[in-house]
Amino acid sequence: MRAPSIDITHVPAPLRPLMLAMARGAAEMAGVIRRGDRRMAAEMGVNSNGDGQKRLDLDADALFRDALRHAGLRWYASEELCDPVAIQDDGDWALAIDPLDGSSNIDTNVSIGTIFAVYPAGTDANASFLRPARELICGGYVIYGPRCSMVVSFGDGTQIYALNPDTDCFDLTEARLSLPDTSFEFAINASNYRHWPRPVRAYIDDCLAGTDGPRDKNFNMRWIGSLVAEAHRILMRGGIFLYPADDRPGYARGRLRMLYECAPIAFLIEQAGGRATDGALPILDARVTALHGRTPLVFGSADKVNRVAAYHDLPEAEVSALFGNRGLFRA
Ligand code: AHG
Ligand code: MN
Ligand code: MN
Repeated sequence: MRAPSIDITHVPAPLRPLMLAMARGAAEMAGVIRRGDRRMAAEMGVNSNGDGQKRLDLDADALFRDALRHAGLRWYASEELCDPVAIQDDGDWALAIDPLDGSSNIDTNVSIGTIFAVYPAGTDANASFLRPARELICGGYVIYGPRCSMVVSFGDGTQIYALNPDTDCFDLTEARLSLPDTSFEFAINASNYRHWPRPVRAYIDDCLAGTDGPRDKNFNMRWIGSLVAEAHRILMRGGIFLYPADDRPGYARGRLRMLYECAPIAFLIEQAGGRATDGALPILDARVTALHGRTPLVFGSADKVNRVAAYHDLPEAEVSALFGNRGLFRA
């Protein structure tokens, strides 16, 4: 079999070495996951965010760092490392990565992924990353599902590539994805209901009330526990995802990290015609001041995401009302 690769027709020339390296890393990861050694899910310790690290979290980090050694990368920042690492002094790019997203699903044979974001590199490592997602040169993820796909944007639409098992090449399957709005699915970890801010509770209350409430339609709920899998479903058929801030200790800014989770996902979603906010304001304009900084995240079909923002603007009496009473939202 030839070395893993990717169809580079739509990849801007300066980014081709990097995308070829990502394709090699992703194909290798897909192989590791397919073989499914149970030790992949072994608990190994705790990362700088205080999250547990599994063996595959650490192996994925090492695998991508190695795959990216000669890809024009100046700085490499990872969920699994405290600080950015210098790769090539003359490299042009700063890449932030969640090497393995959805680690609670490693031992369940449910889709997991890799998320990455690329900025132009500056002389200062941290400053290269601590900028708004609107300045991304590339955002993408790999989903290791029944089919391994890579979803990427270079700022001119969102593309999908599927890993061909016969050639080990990521073939282009969608040149300009348009996020449909055909789904009435919402994704949220409902076990945190009592901890959510009032506007989020009100929004979900109204989805749950279905045809008996102000939305006057029935909804369906999904929660996979892998951001990449939720993002992929929403890119394929619409819907909405919410990981709000909540009042549990450590969740004042939600759970998800801006640099290598929220920023690239927001970039892909907006490039496909959807919308991504922190509940009210666009993720693409937000900034974090620390490499592993978090942000609440709401993304999906534009009208649904805009509606969540509208709940934040409701008068207190409206937002506190029991579901079914959101008078301002009734037609
Ligand atoms: P990671 O495996 O990189 O730590 O990310 C897990 C994230 C994300 O994929 C998912 O949406 C979320 O954590 C699940 O959080 P809960 O366990 O709170 O549902
Ligand atoms: Mn993650
Ligand atoms: Mn991770």
